[in-house]
Amino acid sequence: MFHIKSIISACIALAVLLTSTAALAETVSPAAPKPASKKSAKKQSAKAVAAPAQDAVAPAQDAAAPAKVVATPTPSVAIPVDEIKLRSGPGDPVAGQDKAELCKGCHGEAGISMDPLIPKLAGQYGNYIAKQVRDYQGSLRTHMIMGAVAASVTDQDLADISAFFTTLPMMKGDVLSNNKVGKDLFEKGDLSRMVVPCNNCHGVTGKGQNPRNSAFPVIGGQHKDYLLGQLMNFKKGIRNNSPGGIMNITVQRLSDAELEALADYVSGL
Ligand code: HEC
Ligand code: HEC
Repeated sequence: MFHIKSIISACIALAVLLTSTAALAETVSPAAPKPASKKSAKKQSAKAVAAPAQDAVAPAQDAAAPAKVVATPTPSVAIPVDEIKLRSGPGDPVAGQDKAELCKGCHGEAGISMDPLIPKLAGQYGNYIAKQVRDYQGSLRTHMIMGAVAASVTDQDLADISAFFTTLPMMKGDVLSNNKVGKDLFEKGDLSRMVVPCNNCHGVTGKGQNPRNSAFPVIGGQHKDYLLGQLMNFKKGIRNNSPGGIMNITVQRLSDAELEALADYVSGL
């Protein structure tokens, strides 16, 4: 029984890995359309047609949103404006700024929360934020506070709020950790245990793999305590909302000490 389960797990991991590697190639040449998923394929073709016009208006439009926001307490990563637009998803970040009042009390004015158990949202993919809120609402991911918050948000407001958080200066760690165990697992995984390297999916610095692929969240620079909490939740099966259970499969062969090392390393990126 266990063997069959492991084989199935391995197949899923491999399938996701192949998809993600295909998507990774896009990062190098974003112009070449190479669909990573049905969703992003749709968006891509739209982008391919509308690209020149969209990119021309993007800087002026987006510059307005982050300008009103207070400075982040941590340094941020520079992301090109047209890439931020892709990462934001379908919502309107300007409309989202006021609507996000509901969230800023906990997640921070600039999307950088003070409480290490409340995730930073600054620079996170818009569609990932929206997916998580809908998962809380549908109890695919459980948390008392977020479940209650999620129940009250309409789809349009959620899209706008999510886009607003994406446009904020992206989360970044204060100091790069020299945790070797964490760094090695993040970059190389452990093939002897079929642990796929984290950066295959989450991108070389944990900032996501590709502006069009919101399936893989930004994790680099996230709070260490929050990261460790989520990794433990995936390991214990308390959180089960990753597609195909991919995160449960990824962490189940890692020790608690290794997860701690990973959280330490990733939070510094
Ligand atoms: C009272 C505090 C509070 C408020 C208000 C709040 N959140 Fe949260 N949020 C949390 C906490 C705590 C978590 C971590 C829950 C967990 O561990 O699963 C969280 C998690 C999240 C996540 C998951 C992030 C990730 O990286 O997976 C998203 C997305 C999110 N909140 C969005 C929102 C949005 C959008 C709003 C406003 C509509 C909001 N939150 C309002 C406390 C809050
Ligand atoms: C095969 C692809 C894949 C690999 C490899 C992978 N992840 Fe993930 N990870 C995902 C996906 C997909 C999600 C989003 C799940 C969801 O939609 O809720 C995720 C979510 C997460 C989250 C939750 C983020 C948040 O904001 O709540 C953390 C933390 C995380 N991964 C850490 C890691 C670490 C550390 C590794 C390496 C040991 C790793 N991941 C390897 C695909 C992957």
